[in-house]
Amino acid sequence: MWPYPRILAHRGGGTLAPENTLAGFRAGLQHGYRAVEFDVMLTRDEVPILMHDPQRGRTLPGSGRIAETDWAELRELEAGAWRAPAFAGERICTLEQCLDFCLEQGIWMNVEIKPAAPEHARRTAELTAQAVARRFAGVTGAALPVLSSFSFEALLAAQETAPQLPRGFLVDVIPEDWQQRLAQLQAVALHTNHKHLTPALAASVKDAGVSLFCYTVNDTARAAEIRAWGVDAFCTDRIDLIAADAWAA
Ligand code: G3P
Ligand code: MG
Repeated sequence: MWPYPRILAHRGGGTLAPENTLAGFRAGLQHGYRAVEFDVMLTRDEVPILMHDPQRGRTLPGSGRIAETDWAELRELEAGAWRAPAFAGERICTLEQCLDFCLEQGIWMNVEIKPAAPEHARRTAELTAQAVARRFAGVTGAALPVLSSFSFEALLAAQETAPQLPRGFLVDVIPEDWQQRLAQLQAVALHTNHKHLTPALAASVKDAGVSLFCYTVNDTARAAEIRAWGVDAFCTDRIDLIAADAWAA
């Protein structure tokens, strides 16, 4: 059973604000969202930051790889203007800043470990899990963030580093061996792309007693459909269209 919030703002505030920034979290709060998904990547000097793309160019100006750039340089970059002029001046934030903000505001977190490349998987997971574990020392139950990743290796490293933090096995398409993978990770949930989900697949996951999380659901009709299939939770870009409490029991 999924004891966590059921509808999350994707990348902080969905498409209403620059992704993976505190402005995104604030937009979420304005729309009643107190649960978020965001992505964590390492800078060259191993600072965990909120970042989706492994290179500059879309959400950050200029070019170059995040994993080859120090935090001191990245922190100066404009991170809001690409979304809308009103967000000009917004900066990217560190995982530590994000944890502070979410704890202050009572925001629940799905922390997606997003290694910039496969060779960064282990280290990204270790530093992310350590930071989260430090902030949540002594906490148990549904208040704990869930760590997820498309990288199986990253999740194994997170499990070794902070076994007490719950893990979600994140996949685009559900693989044949999903049950073995979940068992190996002692994961609490399967996180998958709703686009490839079928009622039969959803039923097989639910019949196995596993929680099912979908990304990224952006319309109310689709949300209702997957709810009927037994999906427990999802994240959305459309925090303006989908009410945060739409799936409240
Ligand atoms: O964690 C779910 C979702 O965020 C995965 O896709 O590319 O938006 O990180 P992406
Ligand atoms: Mg993500």
